[in-house]
Order: sequence, then C-alpha cells, then structure tokens
Amino acid sequence: MYVLGIETSCDETGIAIYHSERGLICHQLHSQVAMHNDYGGVVPELASRDHIRKLIPLINQCIIESKLTKSDINGIAYTAGPGLIGALLVGAAVAKSLAWAWGIPSVAVHHMEGHLLAPMLEDKPPAFPFIALLISGGHTLLIKVEGLGKYELLGESLDDAAGEAFDKTAKLLGLSYPGGPRLSALAEQGTPRFKFPRPMTDRPGLDFSFSGLKTFTLNTYQASDQGEQTKADIAASFQQAVAETLAIKCKRAIQQTGIKRLVVAGGVSANALIRQTLTQMTAKQQADSYFPRPEFCTDNGAMIAYAGCQRLMQGVEQNLEIFARARWPICELL
Ligand code: KG4
Ligand code: ZN
Repeated sequence: MYVLGIETSCDETGIAIYHSERGLICHQLHSQVAMHNDYGGVVPELASRDHIRKLIPLINQCIIESKLTKSDINGIAYTAGPGLIGALLVGAAVAKSLAWAWGIPSVAVHHMEGHLLAPMLEDKPPAFPFIALLISGGHTLLIKVEGLGKYELLGESLDDAAGEAFDKTAKLLGLSYPGGPRLSALAEQGTPRFKFPRPMTDRPGLDFSFSGLKTFTLNTYQASDQGEQTKADIAASFQQAVAETLAIKCKRAIQQTGIKRLVVAGGVSANALIRQTLTQMTAKQQADSYFPRPEFCTDNGAMIAYAGCQRLMQGVEQNLEIFARARWPICELL
C-alpha cells in the first residue's frame, strides 16, 4: 500500500510517500524559515498562504521522483492537529479533496503520534512497549506506549514546552528565529560554567517546568558582563540544564515502569547534547535509546505517511468531513 503523507501543522510543508512493505519511498520538505525570519517568529496567516502555494507542486514532485503515478497511491494521510488551525486546514482540505477525487481513503493523523512513530523509519526500530519523550515547540510529553494508539500520559510540561523554552531563551539572548538551533549552535562555543537549576527534579513525579530556566537565563545575563563568550557560556549552561532535567525524568520513568526502551522525538531531539545525554543515561540503566535521524526529528511528511499507513492498515472509518483540531490531546487517540 502506497500512502501519501501531508504535513502542514506549522512552518514546514512536508510531503512523503511510504509503502507498507518497501518503506519510505520519497520525502520532500519546504521550510518557511526564511519567510518568517523578518518577523522573529511564525506568522500564522503567512504560513497558511505558503502551504497553499507549495503543497500541490511538492506532491507532484514527490510522485514523479518516486517514479509512480497518481493511480498508484492507495491512501492519503494528513496532519489534522495539534497545530496552527489555518495551516492544518490547508493540508486537510487538500488531502480530503485528492482522496475524494482519486477514490481512495484518507486518514487524519495526530502530529505528536507522527513524531512518536518517527523512529520506526530507522534501521533499528523500537519494539513495543516503550517510553516516549516527545519534545517539540508546543509539547513536552512523557508517554508509556504499549502499541499503536495505546498511550498513557506519564508526565508533561506544566508551562513552556522544551522547544518553546529554547526559542524564548534564544530571543532573550538576542538570537533570531528559529531560536532552538541557533541557541544550540551558540552553546557549542561555550562552557556550562553557570549553575542553572534542574526544575522539578527535587520532588517526585514526571512533570516538567521550563519557564523558570528562561527567567534564570535573563537574570544571569543581566548580572553578567554581557560579552560574546559569556553569552555562549550562558547558552551552554541553559542547554545542559534542559538536557540533564530531561534525563533525570526519563530515568525515573524507566525505573518506575521497568520498560527499558526510550524513544526520543520531536524537534528538540535534533539537539546533539540532548541526544548524547539521554544515550548515556539509558546505557547506564541498561536500556536502549531510539532517535529519529535529525531531519525526521523536526516536522516532516515521512512520519505522517508512516503513521497514516499504520492507521489505514488498522482500518479507519472514512467520511468526507474535513477534520482539523488546533488542540488535540494525544491520549484521546485510540
Ligand atoms: O517538532 P518541531 O519541528 O515542531 C513542533 O511540532 O513544534 O519542533 C520545533 C522545535 C522548535 O522549538 C525548535 O526551536 C526546536 O524544536 N529545535 C531545537 C533544535 N532543533 C529544533 N531545539 C534545540 N536544539 C535543536 N538543535
Ligand atoms: Zn512537530
């Protein structure tokens, strides 16, 4: 079964074709970073309009590069939420219309389920059950995954998501959008000589809180000489605090559940220090860690095509309703 995946939840237009036996056939990504750069962040209306411009050409390109024709496609998967509602509606409307025109089924995919399943596209995919740490721009979730759609929330961020904390902290340090990768690049030049807190690790539980780190960064920066090296050292200290906090909570989740497999996905999982810190922690716990390749950590069509293919093979109900939700708790999935 060939499944076309469409991702338009935020500022990337991602398209992919996944085959149930052959695996990933092709994927294309158009990033809107250059367009939003002048505004210091994502402008939702511009995002929607750009998805409209890019979607059909990218779909055509993907089908041609895969040496397929439209009639080979057996199903369409689209990100239905959570995300920017206008951007989601573009993907949903195109997916539903194409599916109706081509006489094939379509399936609404939960964006975070897409992230969660992204490591399945790698050579050594994790077996169920596993613990998933999902760290993106809008979410920080720790989930026990028993199987497809069998998700139990173990912990989440009570304020800023991990990616949001990276983005806001980057802004405080005068770095431009997209903050996460820029702050991470700056941190490479620094040493973590400032003592940052590890929020919510001194009490039991698996929830996170990252907004205090942002304030701590601002106070540290204002009390410093504000030189370039100091800025890099503050960035390194912030990054280390996030990495170690995530590792402490994941270690707790492994110990509490006895599940020795940790999946880490979502945009922030592209961060090299976070990958290294979590890999070392799991090794010490005699557990295994699974990450998507960096390009599949951030938003992409491949994870949506994969998740949609699994859902279609499970047999999802079809109707013509264009379904999109800005907010959509992952635990509502079955
Ligand atoms: O999953 P994603 O592409 O989109 C959402 O679903 O939100 O995640 C985007 C988030 C942004 O906050 C971005 O700054 C962050 O992931 N991010 C990073 C890195 N690459 C992306 N944060 C830290 N280090 C990185 N290398
Ligand atoms: Zn995402």
